[in-house]
Amino acid sequence: MKRVTPSDIMELLKTAGAGSYISFASGLPDPALFPVDELRLASDHVLSTDGGAALQYGPAEGYPPLREWIAKRLNNRGLRVKEKNILITNGSQQALDLAARVYLNDGDAVCIENPTYLAALQIFDSCAAEYRTVSQDDDGMIVDDVERSLSTDCKLLFALPNFQNPTGRTLSAERRKQLAAILDRSGTVLLEDDAYHDLCYDGPTLPPISSLTTIADTLYSSTFSKSIAPGLRVGYLCGPEHVISRLTQLKQIADLHTGSLTQRIVHWYVTEYDLDAQIEKLRAVYRSKRDVMLSALARSMPESVRWTRPAGGMFLWMTLPESIDGRALLGDAMSQGVMFVPGSGFHQNQQGSNTIRLNFVSAPADQIVSGISILAKLIKSRC
Ligand SMILES: Cc1ncc(COP(=O)(O)O)c(C=O)c1O
Repeated sequence: MKRVTPSDIMELLKTAGAGSYISFASGLPDPALFPVDELRLASDHVLSTDGGAALQYGPAEGYPPLREWIAKRLNNRGLRVKEKNILITNGSQQALDLAARVYLNDGDAVCIENPTYLAALQIFDSCAAEYRTVSQDDDGMIVDDVERSLSTDCKLLFALPNFQNPTGRTLSAERRKQLAAILDRSGTVLLEDDAYHDLCYDGPTLPPISSLTTIADTLYSSTFSKSIAPGLRVGYLCGPEHVISRLTQLKQIADLHTGSLTQRIVHWYVTEYDLDAQIEKLRAVYRSKRDVMLSALARSMPESVRWTRPAGGMFLWMTLPESIDGRALLGDAMSQGVMFVPGSGFHQNQQGSNTIRLNFVSAPADQIVSGISILAKLIKSRC
């Protein structure tokens, strides 16, 4: 734990709870879109028809009908998997944690995009991992960098190909194929985090890298947090049977199993209600909020500021002039009622001090407009 420091986001969330801010900071979905009534009915149904089992201990791998449903769904994404390939976890955060613990001993190397998901960095730090970093452009990670990194005895490649947290970037179709070929050649294990898979706003979703490899072992994680609700804490990890059985032992050590009641509620919800209609609803609202933020940025930001145009997910990534420090800007922004997350925490090696992450789904549209206008004025005054 020596290398694990408090996360900027957790500290900010505490502050956000204490005051009234326009928050572009957190990773929270819009609570107005949670299917509360359907989940209440699903809970009622589960407790009245299967209450004994729903309140009892259950198998470490997870509730079999839900594992089977997930396997079918993943086949539609191009993954050739069965129920035995699925481990249900306490959100996909636990999936990442278990995968890292199975593969990384002290000093083992993990290849990451720079920047990448902050809470994954904390997991890798807690495993005392070494990093090999790969930079990105608008098409996602630079594949030549990956090839170079994987030639240096890397245990894991951690990749977020869809609407990456924090940048919102998507790995192009061509690069996915190239990456799959590199993985097949190198023998490195892929840990593919597809938490934002369903939140796609433009065009078709591209195939997971895991569906394109032929030899390499791949682990693919995703979650119901973004499509249904994060408070349920139901996610999953999919991989080869022998790895899933090792991961299941670790899951047992960590918490025995994911909640029997919540897994049944999720299963009843996805089989009896229309998950795809729920996803379409989220897409429509989030797409329009993304567009509100993009228009507000185009109207108000100075020339020297750059930002990504995410095709999905929750976040947009802004690069400020080199002379502007994201943390210092946050201090000023908070004094004017606006919050965001400085980008340096998502980086390795103290980079990214002039970057910031903006969540475009949490705040109402009118607050997005006024929050961006406040930020733009502050940035202009520092240019
Ligand atoms: C990229 C990414 N992966 C995984 C997670 C974990 O989500 P959960 O544990 O709710 O499934 C998050 C949460 O925001 C995330 O942004």
